[in-house]
Amino acid sequence: MMDPLTWQAGPRRARSVTEAPVKIAFAGKGGSGKTTLSALFTRHLAAQGLPVVAIDADINQHLAEALGTAQPPAMGAHLAEIKEYLRGDNPRISSAAAMVKTTPPGRGSRLLRPGGGDPVHALAADAPCGARLLATGPFEEEDLGVACYHSKTGAVELYLNHLADEPGEYVVVDCTAGADSFASGLFTRFDLTILVAEPTRKGISVYRQWQDYAAGYHVALAVAGNKAEGPEDVAFLREHAGDDLLAWLGHEPAVRAMEQGRPFTLSDLSPATRTVLGTIQARLDAQPRDWDRYARQAAEFHVRNARAWASAAAGEDLTTQVDRDFTVGQHAQSTAAFPAVPLGCLISGRACAWRLRAESPLQHLVAERNDDIA
Ligand SMILES: Nc1ncnc2c1ncn2[C@@H]1O[C@H](COP(=O)(O)OP(=O)(O)OP(=O)(O)O)[C@@H](O)[C@H]1O
Ligand SMILES: [Mg+2]
Repeated sequence: MMDPLTWQAGPRRARSVTEAPVKIAFAGKGGSGKTTLSALFTRHLAAQGLPVVAIDADINQHLAEALGTAQPPAMGAHLAEIKEYLRGDNPRISSAAAMVKTTPPGRGSRLLRPGGGDPVHALAADAPCGARLLATGPFEEEDLGVACYHSKTGAVELYLNHLADEPGEYVVVDCTAGADSFASGLFTRFDLTILVAEPTRKGISVYRQWQDYAAGYHVALAVAGNKAEGPEDVAFLREHAGDDLLAWLGHEPAVRAMEQGRPFTLSDLSPATRTVLGTIQARLDAQPRDWDRYARQAAEFHVRNARAWASAAAGEDLTTQVDRDFTVGQHAQSTAAFPAVPLGCLISGRACAWRLRAESPLQHLVAERNDDIA
């Protein structure tokens, strides 16, 4: 198995404009364009030779198709193994069964690097653009009535909580529709959340919900308008999103063509769409990572979760799982701190090589708003 850190030293790794690690989420109303933008942005990053892990955190799994790759095995179906791996020999976590989606890492836990050679990334599919794709998995018929689908998206929360990403590494998450990420602390796990909004009252209402729910959590939000067809649409978005309006897309013929079975390369995208992708990247790269906020909020949500239901469900006090002296950031810059990946992979089968196959040479897109349709 490949060492979890070896890909970082790979000769084809391009440097990001940023020196901060970056996790971005695309959220919004159902059908607003979350998957489309997640896929376009993932391809935009991968085309520059940047390491990127895309995660389909929606129970309606469409990101694999949008990235032109096979559906990866569901993380939700491997939760027990993922927990067993991540808890390592953390003495505060008595068993994998006592690990819930909000259980934070502590001393002894195993941390992940995006695209690393660990059993979690062994589940990933390689997309043709060079990105790796993880997926929570669909909500199965047999889950109906017996399981809450938050237990599926819980795999993503565990993943993000244990991720010791380093500068220039990107994680792109396609979220469930609406404000579902507020069912747990998931909404605090990103450096930037893009609310994809169609220029309608319903479209903008999800942004408002996020604004309300996220108030006080220091969560960076920006709005990307989608399917904006003219100046009135842009004016509507601007009126309702104000300075949070980062960029907007119109109808993108290449996206429609792909849905009709004709794949496209990034150079087939309209200049306006390419500019939007550059704008999002510039905004993301400018976002500082606050490891202390990450640790503080992980602890806060876990304690809340434990008191609300998790301790009773596990039959033990899970608030004691919080290791107050531990932040992932202490370990992110220090390779020596990384626990070794065991020789025996808990999840068998798939090769873990991180393959960067640039779609086009490194391109610097001008980071400006696309005022051409305003
Ligand atoms: N800018 C665009 N140009 C053309 N078609 C678009 C654009 N944005 C989205 N679409 C199309 O709109 C539909 C919905 O987009 P998408 O699947 O990305 O939305 P979603 O928010 O992920 O939806 P869901 O909530 O179902 O996951 C798709 O058919 C997609 O191809
Ligand atoms: Mg979608």
